[in-house]
Amino acid sequence: MANRISVADLTAPTETFRPHVLDLDDFSPREVEVVFEATDVMKEVLGREIKKVPALRGKTLVNLFYEASTRTRVSFELAAKNLSADVVNIAVSGSSVAKGESLLDTIRTLQALGADMIVMRHSQAGAPYLVARHVKSCVLNAGDGWHAHPSQALLDLYTMRERLGRLEGLKVVIVGDILHSRVARSNIWGLTAVGARVVLCAPPTLIPFGLGRAEYPLPEVEVEYNLDRAIEGADVVMALRIQKERHKEGLLPDLREYVRLYQIDRTRLARAKPHALLMHPGPVNEGIELAADVVTCAQSVIQEQVANGVAVRMALLYLMGGGGGGA
Ligand code: CP
Repeated sequence: MANRISVADLTAPTETFRPHVLDLDDFSPREVEVVFEATDVMKEVLGREIKKVPALRGKTLVNLFYEASTRTRVSFELAAKNLSADVVNIAVSGSSVAKGESLLDTIRTLQALGADMIVMRHSQAGAPYLVARHVKSCVLNAGDGWHAHPSQALLDLYTMRERLGRLEGLKVVIVGDILHSRVARSNIWGLTAVGARVVLCAPPTLIPFGLGRAEYPLPEVEVEYNLDRAIEGADVVMALRIQKERHKEGLLPDLREYVRLYQIDRTRLARAKPHALLMHPGPVNEGIELAADVVTCAQSVIQEQVANGVAVRMALLYLMGGGGGGA
């Protein structure tokens, strides 16, 4: 495990962190803390006039996104450039994928072209795991299907701890389309690992079937279908987007009814603790999961999440070091 680092150390990437970051399901609390310590240092770098250090000079990062993204793709690009890595962005629609090239052929080609780190988003759960088994490059999962989005969860946890001073014992209510949410799943792993209390709130059709049973592959969390009850005394309220593009017929028959029962508005937010944070991974569907006037209210840290995303991703890239370690 990495020792505490300082800005002065940033020319010497550690070789002791994991080579791939695919989910938080196997992160220990200490490993989360190591990422946070490195993130603190990266925030110091981002506060300078020249926000650049040579930590990854000579390394190449490829952003390979098979699904749409604004925040994750741009923040990985900025993070890598701030660490002096070379960055290649691949638009899948303009690549040989459009001619039928397989995922593994694409990845092997990128490796042959010198990719030290591959940041990858894919619609299929597990795709980054397959890639990590077949390449020497480091692989960062930037979202795979409904499964995992580890860098998002780490920036969420970092933002909570930065604002509230701790994670252990916090009541974190996750509200919305939990069924289709890779953000919720990675947050559940990360939050439970560090001792937070997680309450999920959604209509029954948007809660994963089998959650809470021993055989379901998620840690134990609470489920409360009534938002007013769920939000009572919360330290953090995390709203999620309704992912209409992933919905099958009948999961949400009436959007107006959903808004009435599950939208976070000022009245509902007032049931949380006075210092409670309002979070959202973005993109927000204003007027659906969040009332328009709470998006920018004093309790909203949505823009802080985005800003912290750059520092957290710099920390991950730095710790992984671009040194490779897969097959
Ligand atoms: N939170 C998140 O993953 O946003 P993007 O889809 O814009 O990357």
